[in-house]
Amino acid sequence: MEIEVVQSGVTEIEVDVMVVNLFEGATAPSGATGDVDSAIGGVISELIAAGEITGAESELTLIHTPKSAYPLFKPTRVLVAGLGLSESFDYDAIRRVSASVIRKLRTSRVRHVATVVHGNCTGGLDTAASAQAVVEGALLGSYRFLKYRTTDKYRTPDVSKLTVVEGDSLKLPAIKLGVEKAIVYSGAEILARDLVNEPANKLSPSDLADTAKRVASENGLACIVLEEVDVIKLGMGAYVGVSQGGPRPLKFIHITYEGDPASSENNLWLIGKGITFDSGGISIKPGPGMGKMKGDMGGGAAVIAAIQAIAKLKPKINVHAVCAATDNMPGGSAQRPGDVVTAMNGMTIEIDNTDAEGRLTLADAIGYARSKNAARIVDVATLTGAARVALGDGVSPIFGNDDELVDAVLETSKTVGESMWRLPLDSVTKRQNSSPIADLKNTGGRGGGSTTAAHFISDFAGETPWVHIDIAATSMLDITRGWMPAGATGVPTRSLIELAMSIGKLS
Ligand code: BES
Ligand code: MN
Ligand code: ZN
Repeated sequence: MEIEVVQSGVTEIEVDVMVVNLFEGATAPSGATGDVDSAIGGVISELIAAGEITGAESELTLIHTPKSAYPLFKPTRVLVAGLGLSESFDYDAIRRVSASVIRKLRTSRVRHVATVVHGNCTGGLDTAASAQAVVEGALLGSYRFLKYRTTDKYRTPDVSKLTVVEGDSLKLPAIKLGVEKAIVYSGAEILARDLVNEPANKLSPSDLADTAKRVASENGLACIVLEEVDVIKLGMGAYVGVSQGGPRPLKFIHITYEGDPASSENNLWLIGKGITFDSGGISIKPGPGMGKMKGDMGGGAAVIAAIQAIAKLKPKINVHAVCAATDNMPGGSAQRPGDVVTAMNGMTIEIDNTDAEGRLTLADAIGYARSKNAARIVDVATLTGAARVALGDGVSPIFGNDDELVDAVLETSKTVGESMWRLPLDSVTKRQNSSPIADLKNTGGRGGGSTTAAHFISDFAGETPWVHIDIAATSMLDITRGWMPAGATGVPTRSLIELAMSIGKLS
């Protein structure tokens, strides 16, 4: 979808559809909606009076405005989008409304859409951020993964152009800024979605490493890919143990963005779980739903995608994206329950269940980051089915050992609309990870599955400020929700970008 910003009145622009809006409970159209209403003989007012237009969120009313009837009105159609109640209106509402608008217009075979910036005239909302939300809603909400469809791929073609219309020239620079940010943020989140939606036979650890190299070279970033021999030399026994059950070679990916080369201690390490397929290993998973485990590299996808955007936005901070990529397979050389492995930091782990593989790969990725003097670590992982039990699929549980970093992550997640909630790392669940024969075991029994997994990782993070985001439930959706179409959501790519931007601004 091509995006442009144009200074124009809403009645003067030659487009297939002009999108305006109405708050729930408004008795008369005002602003741009009022301008359209007057130009088309009060049709919107009439529909409000008749009760057809109420302004309820994502209520979409299409009005046909043919030249024969309205010779002075340029758009061929008008879409009135309900914004919901003004009290609860925020950037998330803008993203949701914009997403429903663009999907509705696609089914109506519309090609060129113009829209006002929803929330532009609302007190408390920033013009640039509102424009960003409108465009993010459109780009993210119209996302589809169609590359393997050969038959009805173009049944409902995408809207080809979105024009953001603003009459006030003083607001144009802010709108342009917001639109540019939206393109970068959404582009990254869409890269993450594409990687997660990609089937495992098309996305091996090597393919993921190739994507990382491409992202790096396109954005002037350094990218190192370590092979099995390299990580064995580094002592990453936990990671290698996961990898040994399948034939596709592991790839340890490390991309570096240098935004503050003079202060190497000003750094942020983004570590993503990168299991390109999780069969469970010898502790094999049941058949139903196993196909979803192609998405078990969602954390890795998010960190690679985030650093792409970070490279373009250039915050003043050094950012590292790390992904210990591998399959988890049950081949003849697979590790067994009962095995003991030694992680890079020297700790020994009893493998209680080979399906608790994510924490093993993260343990060594974190060991690597700490060996390179990581100052802050944020790991992102499709780690535990228990995350869905705890919080459902709308909120990602997070854990951490540093209140400041936890609060920074929560704050940025709010800004971008990727909901997170902190859970405690209490001393009772911590004991569930003890092993009779090793330093710890890789499962923690029945209660608090997300918490015991987080405790396990925290033992490797040690004293380094660290946050863990469990995206097992939020990384893929069964049904479309707002700007997240069914399938991969790309969560929490935009939070990670925003986090680097906010820390980069302070330093
Ligand atoms: N990748 C899974 C977690 C997962 C489950 C992600 C559902 C997305 C959707 C992870 O590797 C796993 O298998 N976790 C186990 C841990 C258990 C064996 C302690 C789980 O959650 O059942
Ligand atoms: Mn698993
Ligand atoms: Zn897994």
